[in-house]
Amino acid sequence: MQIVASKAQVRAQVGRWREAGERVTLVPTMGALHKAHMDLARLAGRRGRVIVSIFVNPTQFAPGEDFERYPRELDADADLLREAGVDLLFAPGQDEVYPRGLEDPTRVEVPGLSGDLCGAYRPTHFSGVTSVVARLLLMVLPDAVVFGRKDYQQLVILRRMVEDLHVPVEVVEGPITREMDGLAMSSRNRYLTEAQRRAAPALHAELRRCAARIEAGERDFAGLEREAAARLKDAGFAPDYVAVRRAADLGPPPASAAGEWVVLAAAWLGSARLIDNVVCGAAS
Ligand code: PAJ
Repeated sequence: MQIVASKAQVRAQVGRWREAGERVTLVPTMGALHKAHMDLARLAGRRGRVIVSIFVNPTQFAPGEDFERYPRELDADADLLREAGVDLLFAPGQDEVYPRGLEDPTRVEVPGLSGDLCGAYRPTHFSGVTSVVARLLLMVLPDAVVFGRKDYQQLVILRRMVEDLHVPVEVVEGPITREMDGLAMSSRNRYLTEAQRRAAPALHAELRRCAARIEAGERDFAGLEREAAARLKDAGFAPDYVAVRRAADLGPPPASAAGEWVVLAAAWLGSARLIDNVVCGAAS
């Protein structure tokens, strides 16, 4: 596995692969890699050459969030990626990604959706995500890019960015990778104490419960959201929100029986902000 830090190096390698007729898929990450990231890398690997990027992007963290304490462990990450058969690790420094520094860098914004759900609690977050992913795509110039469904709103926003800006890249979705007890894997799970870790699967369980009730015909979405948030509080969480939305674009949830819904939640457990979602549908 090659490890490169510069745009010039990654582009040169992508150019060689493309000349040889090979397809290149990028998996953007912030490192502290776990099995879910490896699953995305293996999904990418079925399509040809794989580049994983690791960059802890400062612009998607607000002041007071966990940018400083976000785990950075490049050597261990590189070992995992090598085992997973990744071809190239792109680990650029801040100056490579933001050559003019962090003072008023050029931004890419997807308005509306970026201020909804998680964006209502982290108002600058998605602007940072779209701004960095646009940069990574333009630095690497891959044929395809993989994002996980665990960060459902991020995925919908990034899809919209790619479509709106006519970025010539295919967006590939990866399923959620969970622990045995249902907790969605996350680099932030390591912030949990042992007791919090034992309580954490209740988030997924609660979302599944909502999804089952919708599939059984329940259409009082606001009531479901309130009830789920109350139950999460009882289980020791401090929920930011529980929301039922249309799965395709996070619009208002359809009442029709033939719809597809997503139930999403963000909730604090101690100093960890956990997010999760469950997609559900009803037969027509
Ligand atoms: P990060 O949290 O490192 O996640 C990298 C990718 O892994 C994202 O596409 C995310 O959705 C996916 N992922 C994380 N945990 C997952 C799980 N349990 N199941 C499935 N996919 C999972 O998301 C980011 O980094 C950043 O915002 C980034 C897109 C890299 C921009 O900085």
